[in-house]
Amino acid sequence: MGISFNHVTHLYPGVKRKEYTLALEDVSLDINEKNEFIAIVGKTGSGKSTLIQHMNALKLPTKGTVSIFDNVITPKKRKNPKLKNVRKRVGFVFQFPEYQLFEETVLKDIMFAPINFGMKKEEAEQKALEIAKLLGISHLLKKSPCNLSGGQMRKVAIAGILSYDPDILLLDEPTRGLDPKGQVEIMELFYKIHKETGKTIILITHDMDLVYQYATRVIVLNDTKITYDGDKVKLFLDGIYKDNNLTKPEVLKLIDYLNNKFHYNIDYNTFTLDDLLSKLKEVA
Ligand SMILES: Nc1ncnc2c1ncn2[C@@H]1O[C@H](COP(=O)(O)OP(=O)(O)OP(=O)(O)O)[C@@H](O)[C@H]1O
Ligand SMILES: [Mg+2]
Repeated sequence: MGISFNHVTHLYPGVKRKEYTLALEDVSLDINEKNEFIAIVGKTGSGKSTLIQHMNALKLPTKGTVSIFDNVITPKKRKNPKLKNVRKRVGFVFQFPEYQLFEETVLKDIMFAPINFGMKKEEAEQKALEIAKLLGISHLLKKSPCNLSGGQMRKVAIAGILSYDPDILLLDEPTRGLDPKGQVEIMELFYKIHKETGKTIILITHDMDLVYQYATRVIVLNDTKITYDGDKVKLFLDGIYKDNNLTKPEVLKLIDYLNNKFHYNIDYNTFTLDDLLSKLKEVA
């Protein structure tokens, strides 16, 4: 098993003593080491970021345990295993990438983690150049990460994670702040990595079109609890999405319209507008 949550509750301390915010309540969950593309969705403040920060021990549970590649993380900091092994295997791209970048230059920033995990400098540099090319940010390598746009920072943060090749990738709203072309490129890159290497990818997003196109499993959070964990078609077919304040993907809205108005019989196993277009061509 890759990551397992065993009755995890997380409380954030408040400003006053004995005041707390409940962010996760009694969450149990199993995630495979390989071949999952999980979308975590839910309205703002529902606990999504808190949940994935437990997946590489950035947060410790207040109650319960999280097992990450057999490293058991408990509420007691001192008793926990060394986190370096966990962090190397589970890479995290933050919701706010500016908190993740701190080196003098973009190149040094991308090289930081692989060197920290024991890679030789020359090898780390080679790897950084390769990944920068893949992400189309080679022209930024000499700049200071502080002087980049939000979207560029996000790409640098992603490059910094890909550079040490973790087994599982955690992505907190990775397309936020990117232009439409950049969004497609980044998602296609993650999808390619997932397909070619079988790496498990865990993605938080508010974009239901992305969920419908890429996810193999959807986890819905609502007010600190998991309210749905399963197939994406069922989520939108059964109205469960409505109970959880989610919207339908555009492609499904179009299918509903076409089926109602023209009595087509297009099924919900149609994940993108291109898929829909091919089906319409068949009908025509
Ligand atoms: N550092 C913190 N200190 C105190 N409370 C926090 C902290 N971070 C989050 N919270 C609270 O915990 C709850 C869950 O927050 P979290 O950031 O996990 O939500 P989210 O689902 O990621 O939301 P969003 O979609 O807006 O990113 C919220 O009630 C939030 O106010
Ligand atoms: Mg969040």
